[in-house]
Amino acid sequence: MTTLEQFIADRQQEVEKATGAFSKILRDIGLGAKMVSFYLRRASLAGFLGELGLTNIQGESVQKLDDMANRLFIRLFSHNPHIAGIATEEEAEILSTNPDGKYVILLDPLDGSSNIDVGVPVGTIFSVYRRLTPIGTPCTERDFLQGGRQQVAAGYVLYGTSTLLFYTTGRGVHGFTLEPAAGEFLLTYPQVQMPSHSSYYSFNDNQLHEWSLELQQYVADLHLRNQRAEKPQSLRYVGSLVADFHRNLLKGGFFMYPGTVKKPEGKLRLLYEGYPIAWLTEEAGGKASNGYQPLLDVPPHSIHQRTPLFIGPVEEIERLTSFLQRNVAVETT
Ligand code: AHG
Ligand code: MN
Ligand code: MN
Repeated sequence: MTTLEQFIADRQQEVEKATGAFSKILRDIGLGAKMVSFYLRRASLAGFLGELGLTNIQGESVQKLDDMANRLFIRLFSHNPHIAGIATEEEAEILSTNPDGKYVILLDPLDGSSNIDVGVPVGTIFSVYRRLTPIGTPCTERDFLQGGRQQVAAGYVLYGTSTLLFYTTGRGVHGFTLEPAAGEFLLTYPQVQMPSHSSYYSFNDNQLHEWSLELQQYVADLHLRNQRAEKPQSLRYVGSLVADFHRNLLKGGFFMYPGTVKKPEGKLRLLYEGYPIAWLTEEAGGKASNGYQPLLDVPPHSIHQRTPLFIGPVEEIERLTSFLQRNVAVETT
């Protein structure tokens, strides 16, 4: 029965020369997760559902619970002396908090907002970097725009049938389950590996007609393969990246949110959805791409920049990118 704190303490060498700064950041993420989980599960009793009545930088209507989670994590991290600054999906600009902090954190406080009011799992996604700017000065955007391979930690919380916390610091993916009786996250999924075979495919094809011809050919090929397969893959898509990703991580599955002709950059945000999920995918033996290069290598240029996202077992992603890069003869029906 290893708690999250014990697990991190035992391995904090991997990120930090035992100063404990990093483990205090993960502890705050765990604390925030417990509190958000508590409020989520009572939302319909406490009048917490529905819209706040504001529109965020994404141009999306802010749900009351988006705002609750955002404010809660900002308050938590602002009191953590090791965090110099925060960037979240709900804040237009970066927030400089403790100039003496050595780390910055990016956050999707509540992922899957469209599902909050209908009881479908939602999540929190986080990504941590060591700051580049001098300690003792306010952090700047430069600290947040380092690129996916500079992350020192990344993970998510899934508020589902149980509350789960999965993270990586570059030495595998480890999963914990919140034990409400103890108020602790306990280690339940050590060293997670994504199955090499896709049992599921996850994408919203309502824009299929707007996808590139090559991507439409990949989808046709996917359906053809399933027609011929002993055990065809099943479509599973709930519209919460964290929930869709978590199922595919454990069971093997392919997820995509591509760009369209009108919006080639797609919908999902690179810094606090793409990079953390991509690192977890690679650490679990899968592959994450923007369709043309590994997602972790896509250069960052702005905090809320969007990216097409393709995630799954290596074989599936390589097949997809070979279609997108036009060097596969299309199987005739
Ligand atoms: P968020 O709620 O943080 O804005 O993220 C929602 C995202 C992601 O969770 C999910 O994969 C995607 O939106 C679903 O988009 P569609 O509803 O367009 O399929
Ligand atoms: Mn999101
Ligand atoms: Mn969100």
